[in-house]
Amino acid sequence: MEAVVEQSITRDAPVHLEGLGKEYGHFTALKALDLTVAQGTSLGFLGPNGAGKSTTIKIMTNLIRPSRGRASLFGIDVRREPTRALARIGAVIETPEFYGYLSPVETLAYAGRLRGMSSKDLHNRSEAVLKEVKLTDWADHRIQEFSKGMKQRLAIAQSLLNEPDLLILDEPTSGLDPRGMAEVRDVIKSLKDQGRTIFMSSHLLGEVQEVCDDVALLNHGELLIRGSVRELSRGADTSLIQATFLLSATPQDLEALATLPGVEEVKASGDSTVDLRISGGEEGQARVLEAMIGRGLKVITYRPLGSSLEQLYLDRIQESDRL
Ligand SMILES: Nc1ncnc2c1ncn2[C@@H]1O[C@H](COP(=O)(O)OP(=O)(O)O)[C@@H](O)[C@H]1O
Ligand SMILES: [Mg+2]
Repeated sequence: MEAVVEQSITRDAPVHLEGLGKEYGHFTALKALDLTVAQGTSLGFLGPNGAGKSTTIKIMTNLIRPSRGRASLFGIDVRREPTRALARIGAVIETPEFYGYLSPVETLAYAGRLRGMSSKDLHNRSEAVLKEVKLTDWADHRIQEFSKGMKQRLAIAQSLLNEPDLLILDEPTSGLDPRGMAEVRDVIKSLKDQGRTIFMSSHLLGEVQEVCDDVALLNHGELLIRGSVRELSRGADTSLIQATFLLSATPQDLEALATLPGVEEVKASGDSTVDLRISGGEEGQARVLEAMIGRGLKVITYRPLGSSLEQLYLDRIQESDRL
């Protein structure tokens, strides 16, 4: 009984991909991707350039057809019933070109009328979505004055017009300057905090960690990691730690550090600073710190250099690049 319930939840999930594959000529861009995104989750679809992220997203939004497998949104097959499947989603696939002489309000009015929205609906929704992307003060300015980041936020506003239950964003911060990236991330975070379901691709792990609850790592058209950012960060085994001591560490200290259980590598990176590669996750980190203090080393700072998820990410990408 339980299994039946679970299956129907999976099938009706906002995103459900089964054995999805794509060939461009003889080149396999996507092998056989299985991926489900549950209601209310924000998934970071992570992978280096060429991993197959856009290919997946284009199949999900019916811009291209898969070579095999199927994609469904809210239980509706994208190829069989594209209109119905796409009715509940908003998507920003490539930054759309806006007419520079129009304002956001005019642009949204145009987009809304194309979708058959009533003027009253349009007025309300337009105000609401501009607020969501923090463009209220710019509502009547010409888009030609806008930065790339502002245009991207307008694109997100446009995708929110129909109050979608699922938002699909393909590399929403790519090509933006640091400030533009931060502003777009803020907008996505606040959408996530409202409990919206988000499927966002990115090649930046840091961005995914900042914005998303879950992560799926893709490389060479294959899924390498799938899980929650929290669990994966906790579970990833090795981490890099930088420790600073009150007095400079002697060669004997370094040797002693290297023999501590869990310490895999020690490198002096300054007079009183060492970099340690430690196994055993967060517990391992805590044990090593304890042991250092136990040996009379006066530790003043002890901080992760890269998250353990970063380590896991790099390891898996390297492994799959080697194959
Ligand atoms: N229309 C196409 N024709 C041929 N090869 C393509 C086409 N689109 C993408 N590719 C190739 O498929 C692979 C995956 O591309 P893509 O899905 O765009 O990756 P990502 O979005 O992760 O960077 C890349 O090697 C890319 O060069
Ligand atoms: Mg892409």
